[in-house]
Amino acid sequence: MTTTDRERTATRLLSSSAEHSYDPEVEIDWEAPFVPGLYFVPPHRSSLNGTSLWEGLTEEQRITLTRHELASIAGLGVWFETILMQLLVRGYYKQDPTTAHAQYALTEIADECRHSVMFGRMIAKLGTPVYRPGGVDAFLGKWIGATGVGPRMFAAILICEEILDTLQREAMADEQLQPLVRMVSRIHVVEEARHVRYAREELARQVRAAGRGRLTFDKLVIGRAAHLCGTRLIHPDVYRSVGIDPAVGHRAALANPRFRETLRWSGERVVAYLNDLDLVDGPGKPFWRMSGLLPRPA
Ligand SMILES: [Fe+2]
Ligand SMILES: [Fe+2]
Repeated sequence: MTTTDRERTATRLLSSSAEHSYDPEVEIDWEAPFVPGLYFVPPHRSSLNGTSLWEGLTEEQRITLTRHELASIAGLGVWFETILMQLLVRGYYKQDPTTAHAQYALTEIADECRHSVMFGRMIAKLGTPVYRPGGVDAFLGKWIGATGVGPRMFAAILICEEILDTLQREAMADEQLQPLVRMVSRIHVVEEARHVRYAREELARQVRAAGRGRLTFDKLVIGRAAHLCGTRLIHPDVYRSVGIDPAVGHRAALANPRFRETLRWSGERVVAYLNDLDLVDGPGKPFWRMSGLLPRPA
């Protein structure tokens, strides 16, 4: 792909942004109460579904658990978008502001600003704690936001965006879910499709420019980013909301074949793409294995 292709893609993405962008303040009825009996995450995607802990919960408690699981996913989303905005704005600093490619980076930052406000508002409405990565993960997030460049930057972006996108594509069509959740998912899916396109093409270009042999350090960072997305999607503290000890709930989720399948399914598309670019390998491979995102070994 040449620079001309890069400009062509960015020009298309800019015109699509002009036609299909949403202001969540206007599009979403934030005052509407939640509908009794509807879930916040499809029940078959709940991290405990299928376990004996799940069997011990009332219907009301199951709904409460999905409410906190949604808050955890949205909390990871906001946290990640903050990093993403830093990465994009740092990349923009060196670019020619007259190019469509640079202008699209700014447009994507504008999308992410609206998304983070939307997710923040949704978490406030859920009335849950703000769940987000802590400890080493929080430190690594700050580090990658301040230093991420090139293939490791775009691969980390893609992993988080595509996992979230897979979950939300299903959620926006699921009638068992709260209308607010479906609407938030729909808005995010439409705008993220552009981001995924931008990141996928840019990543492929940068891998080619770097030469595959020179990506050792990047592969380590990419593996660690995958590990974080897989293991922190559902924060252990969510189980407290239904009276389950966080460590017990977290262990049960990690061992739950249905949840393991959900993780694999959510990572399927991005893992296949990164695999084609030879990025699911090298020193990052052990982290990938622990992430839960890889296909089951044949
Ligand atoms: Fe977003
Ligand atoms: Fe995005």
